[in-house]
Amino acid sequence: MHSRIAGTGRYLPARVLTNDDLARQGVDTTDEWVRTRTGIRQRHVVADDEMASDLALAASRQALAAAGIAAADVDLIIVATTTPDMIFPSTACILQDKLGAHGGPAFDVQAVCSGFVYGLAIADGMVRSGAVRNALVAGAEIYSRILDWSDRKTCVLFGDGAGAVVLVPSREPGVLATRLHADGSHHAMLCVPGQVRDGAVVGSPYVHMDGQAVFKFAVRVLTEVADETLAAAALPRSAIDWLIPHQANLRIMDATARRLDIPPERVVVTVDRHANTSAASIPLALDEAVRDGRIRPGQHVMMLGVGGGFTWGSALVRWG
Ligand SMILES: CC(C)(COP(=O)(O)OP(=O)(O)OC[C@H]1O[C@@H](n2cnc3c(N)ncnc32)[C@H](O)[C@@H]1OP(=O)(O)O)[C@@H](O)C(=O)NCCC(=O)NCCS
Repeated sequence: MHSRIAGTGRYLPARVLTNDDLARQGVDTTDEWVRTRTGIRQRHVVADDEMASDLALAASRQALAAAGIAAADVDLIIVATTTPDMIFPSTACILQDKLGAHGGPAFDVQAVCSGFVYGLAIADGMVRSGAVRNALVAGAEIYSRILDWSDRKTCVLFGDGAGAVVLVPSREPGVLATRLHADGSHHAMLCVPGQVRDGAVVGSPYVHMDGQAVFKFAVRVLTEVADETLAAAALPRSAIDWLIPHQANLRIMDATARRLDIPPERVVVTVDRHANTSAASIPLALDEAVRDGRIRPGQHVMMLGVGGGFTWGSALVRWG
């Protein structure tokens, strides 16, 4: 028994903020600086009444429609998010309610920007083992609420959005191999250190990051985990038809692709239009490349995540 991705979906909030908009709103930056350092041109930002579960709901409905599965028939629900609706219960339980599904397991995965590949790997294992009939894995994030908009080193990098996939059992292998890793000794390199204590936030509730350290770390581990995953599937680098790295920064993606000998035209890039949407970034890019016809049956898609923790991981999929 294997699992395969039967449908994908995505959602980006209506409000768009360009780099120039940020500069006009008082962020000490320029469009030229942000574009040349990161490839980012704009980001989407939620409305006041939108929550992560709303973003996940819109993406999930598209993924379920593409898979031909009714919302009420969804079994396992995993939401990868760093920006949950509330401290508890999980955003996955709130999504389950909004979908009108009941009874299957539902939980959140907190692996920051690697959350989607973590969720996909867990769901793959549960579908393959027969523990669940199918699985909905969504990445949904509202980073605009955890950014210090006066810190130009971080606020220009992130955005809001959601993506989702539906996994079903399959005789033919769809998900070929997954690999997950973490090294908690780097937890301070990228973090939101604040906590809620006695009714107040103690410590900073905003993203803190050592940008250059993150850059070097990300390129190294993304390359390593891609090779490790190819070895597990007994495939060469040249078998990768589409590389979908975490959409953090165009320069990280370019450097990773170069090290893996993958030409730029085989890398799916959406970061220019939605910035770094953390756990949502890989399913957002996947859905775009599936719906515009780039990803075709029989092709190999390598998804690579990296993020706070530090965490990193992969999912190698044969499409179809
Ligand atoms: C964040 C990043 C783009 C910064 O690029 P960098 O070349 O390392 O830039 P530095 O931090 O060294 O800053 C260089 C200068 O630009 C300035 N700068 C930083 N952000 C700026 C901005 N948004 N606009 C204009 N200037 C900016 C700095 O203040 C600094 O100025 P100084 O030399 O006068 O002190 C880069 O480190 C990066 O991409 N890191 C990875 C981030 C990431 O992807 N995180 C998420 C991973 S999941």
